[in-house]
Amino acid sequence: MTLEIRDISKSFGGFKALDGMTLTIDSKGLFGIIGPNGAGKSTLFSVVSGFQHADSGEIRMDGKVIDKLSPPERARAGMVRTFQVPREFSHLTVRENLMAAAPGQAGESLVGLFFRPGQVRKEEAAIAEKVATTIEFLRLGKVADVPSGKLSGGQKKLLELGRALMVDPTLILLDEPFAGVNPVLIGEIMERIAELNTRGIGFVIIEHDLQALTRLVPRLAVMDRGRLLAEGAPAAVLEDPVVREAYLGGAS
Ligand SMILES: Nc1ncnc2c1ncn2[C@@H]1O[C@H](COP(=O)(O)OP(=O)(O)O)[C@@H](O)[C@H]1O
Ligand SMILES: [Mg+2]
Repeated sequence: MTLEIRDISKSFGGFKALDGMTLTIDSKGLFGIIGPNGAGKSTLFSVVSGFQHADSGEIRMDGKVIDKLSPPERARAGMVRTFQVPREFSHLTVRENLMAAAPGQAGESLVGLFFRPGQVRKEEAAIAEKVATTIEFLRLGKVADVPSGKLSGGQKKLLELGRALMVDPTLILLDEPFAGVNPVLIGEIMERIAELNTRGIGFVIIEHDLQALTRLVPRLAVMDRGRLLAEGAPAAVLEDPVVREAYLGGAS
């Protein structure tokens, strides 16, 4: 199972945020992406998840070209992303946010409501149960009925992960899941990610906190100026002089 990113370019105005980015990722594993600010990491997630279209290049999931699929279609194919800045509905509670993230309720269509009320009730019960399981798994029970705008930074990141889990993904793209999170909660989030991985969910994780990331992933890629700079085991990559130059000598 692979996610193939082939020669992807994406410009904003005259500026190349992605410039021939190429990378193949084992989509069942734990894979990290690091790189200086502005390297194009979040843009890469946007293109891979379908929120933005590449100017050129190709994305394949398990060999199938997915460039034409919308974000919901990619989610149905098993791939979801989170955002660097959490996008929960702040006036809704944790539980309500998770309910809202569940895909394909029959109740979403009037036809479903009028002609299949029993089916709608069954689906709602199944969703409520999945929400309860997710809350328990993420240890969010104490804040389940709190408006999510009142959560701490770390709890918001856990809710983001929970919203991703509601679509039964096979691959989750996490954009800086540890940013603004206290060290204790970072440890907890890492444990949840590792456990989900043993259950068969793959992760690609963009992260600024190198120490946290290198404890979690066996492989990572370094991006700089819209391209792949290096790829491999964390220790080897971080020793690479080219990588050191990008971090220490390069512009921010
Ligand atoms: N929607 C956009 N419009 C214009 N410029 C953008 C947009 N998104 C990203 N950029 C620019 O592209 C570059 C890469 O951004 P981004 O992918 O967010 O980098 P990273 O996540 O690695 O910090 C940055 O210089 C950023 O300002
Ligand atoms: Mg970013």
